[in-house]
Amino acid sequence: MSEAVKWERKGAVAVITIDSPPVNALGQAVRAGLKACLEAALADDAVETLVLTGAGKTFSAGADIREFGKPPQGPSLPDVIAAFENASKPVIAAINGTALGGGLELALGCHYRVASPFAQVGLPEVKLGLIPGAGGTVRLPRLTGVQAAVDIIVDGSPLDARKAEAAGIVDRVAEGDVVAAACNLAAEGVGHRRTRDLPLEGDAALFEGVKAAVARKARGLYSPLRCVESIEAASRLPFDEAIANERSLFLDCLNSPQRAGLIHAFFAQREAAKVPGLGPDVKPRPVESVGVIGAGTMGGGIAMCFANAGLPVILIETVAPALDRGLATIRRNYEATAAKGRITPAEVEARMALITGSLDYGDLATVDLVIEAAFESMAVKHEIFGKLDAICKPGAVLATNTSTLSIDEIAAATRRPQDVVGMHFFSPANVMRLLENVRGKETAPDVQATVMDVAKRIGKVGVMVGVCYGFVGNRILHARNREAIALVNEGATPQQVDKVLTGFGFAMGPFATSDLAGLDVGWRIREERRKANDPDVDAPNWLDALAEKGRYGQKTGAGIYLYEKGSRTPIPDAETDALIAAYRAEAGIATRDVPDREILERCMFMMVNEGARILEEGIASRASDIDAVWLNGYGFPAYRGGPMFWGEQQGLGTVVAGIDAFHARLGTPQWQAAGLLRKLADEGKGFSG
Ligand code: 3HC
Repeated sequence: MSEAVKWERKGAVAVITIDSPPVNALGQAVRAGLKACLEAALADDAVETLVLTGAGKTFSAGADIREFGKPPQGPSLPDVIAAFENASKPVIAAINGTALGGGLELALGCHYRVASPFAQVGLPEVKLGLIPGAGGTVRLPRLTGVQAAVDIIVDGSPLDARKAEAAGIVDRVAEGDVVAAACNLAAEGVGHRRTRDLPLEGDAALFEGVKAAVARKARGLYSPLRCVESIEAASRLPFDEAIANERSLFLDCLNSPQRAGLIHAFFAQREAAKVPGLGPDVKPRPVESVGVIGAGTMGGGIAMCFANAGLPVILIETVAPALDRGLATIRRNYEATAAKGRITPAEVEARMALITGSLDYGDLATVDLVIEAAFESMAVKHEIFGKLDAICKPGAVLATNTSTLSIDEIAAATRRPQDVVGMHFFSPANVMRLLENVRGKETAPDVQATVMDVAKRIGKVGVMVGVCYGFVGNRILHARNREAIALVNEGATPQQVDKVLTGFGFAMGPFATSDLAGLDVGWRIREERRKANDPDVDAPNWLDALAEKGRYGQKTGAGIYLYEKGSRTPIPDAETDALIAAYRAEAGIATRDVPDREILERCMFMMVNEGARILEEGIASRASDIDAVWLNGYGFPAYRGGPMFWGEQQGLGTVVAGIDAFHARLGTPQWQAAGLLRKLADEGKGFSG
């Protein structure tokens, strides 16, 4: 019997169990095991009905995505599923937990489906740049109808057991043990009921509307429209032809660079959770209560993250009006979420009840973790961390949400630098998935493990980075934005630069993003650095001029762009053009037409180069960590895999040649190719070898 799939007879029922940790993915051994167990169970005369289930908390997470891009090895998944569907005895899927992608497709090939109340089912292939490739687009609409199938497949999000039952995907939700419930169903005497035999009709007008809507939302992603095309074909073609058509569209997607980028993004995120140097013996410290200092936008958002995860939070402010304002904003945010039906009014109250406002640092004496989200000034941070050192219990983790200041300097304000760490949230903190955890020189391994564990508990993608100005994300952002500004100085318009980068797939261009973040933030930081005679800060430019005029961006209705009241749509503005022109004249810059291609290459090559510097300095452990930061915190198009993966796809030799050409032309030190990048390019390697 196969290791990965086992079967046993229980009376007249053969129970086949997929047992391939961690997620029962349908790799070659599992596919072969399924086929062998099916044949053996069918050959056993004492068996009348088959039940198929999974060991652990997963039924199956679908195809083994580590096999993608490698030569296929039989039996294929569609063949295995067809064997189950065409079996001479009824087969019941006992969906014990998550059934995704090929896992759900396998269940759809069974004759009945019983689900545990905790099961989640879905076809998330679209999120990997694929379409369901083992019958999902052909069988699912036969069970749910066309519109529901389109919604489920194009969205890719899973449904819980009750919703799956209502949609017609599962026949029953088990009250207790799902295998027992499937055996009970078998005892009731079930017949053959092949999904392939169910009728399916689509209407052409519906598909035209759906295709137009999906194309609008796809933002350059190739797979969503292919999903609809496959469902449409399934509604016209005989079953076997529809399956063949689906397979060909699936292979099309499988061979696309978008699939490679999305799978890289999937693994980059999971790899980031494994911090080099933190073995399994390093256990996180327990965190059952949290303190947050600062009830402004960041602090409030951070408090919400913990309340959402069921953890009590003490929210500290210096004066009552600021605290009241912060708590009122949190309540308003929760109520807005409730108004959209995403949480219930009772949940609003439960979450608010977890957040206790306080003006007394003494209330932090017993918390396990404190996150400081106060004003971005070293003097302020020193004062706060000095107080925390005096008040917090031994072993409490003392974190700062700083985005620019040195963790080591902040830690020096305490007598316990080993307990001090950065937890850099992104705004809005309760929404953005990235959490850049920053280890200082002395941060203890178990403190590092704690903040990585906390990231997971509050549903964030935690990435561990080291100390440098801007850490990983903002340092690369800064390098790219400096280039975007240089391009405008030379003759491009902000809207041209933004258009090139949104055309590449970014959610927003750099200038629209600056308006969203607020021009005053960068301006104040630059002013501080200029006052401190920092040699690395640029001379004042047209962005500083805009901020000086009170044009801070969206929040003031004008920044680089203009915004109509209540609208977030950027409108190009003549005053900005005039300030840019004045800056160019004063700096003696002769303008020229800047080609779109140059804009893209200068922005992107600069990101790869800065990323390579970050790697060689050991600030990030792996290129994929840099990708995870940009994918989860900066709207980098997931199907391009992140800046470092994108660089690799171009060929590092091409990137270095481009960087050298820009260096020869522009002569600025930032265009010096990073040593690591040149070395890898010379060796014909990528970042991962
Ligand atoms: N293939 C291979 N490995 C997989 C996998 C898959 N389909 N799904 C998860 N894994 C691995 C992860 O890489 C991770 O490995 P690691 O421990 O070495 O880092 C491990 O399983 C655990 O995964 P998570 O950390 O994500 O665990 P969670 O419990 O948080 O989530 C999950 C479990 C919900 C199943 C999540 O892993 C997931 O969403 N997986 C992807 C599901 C998916 O996209 N399926 C479709 C595949 S494509 C397909 O089926 C094509 C078909 O139509 C032909």
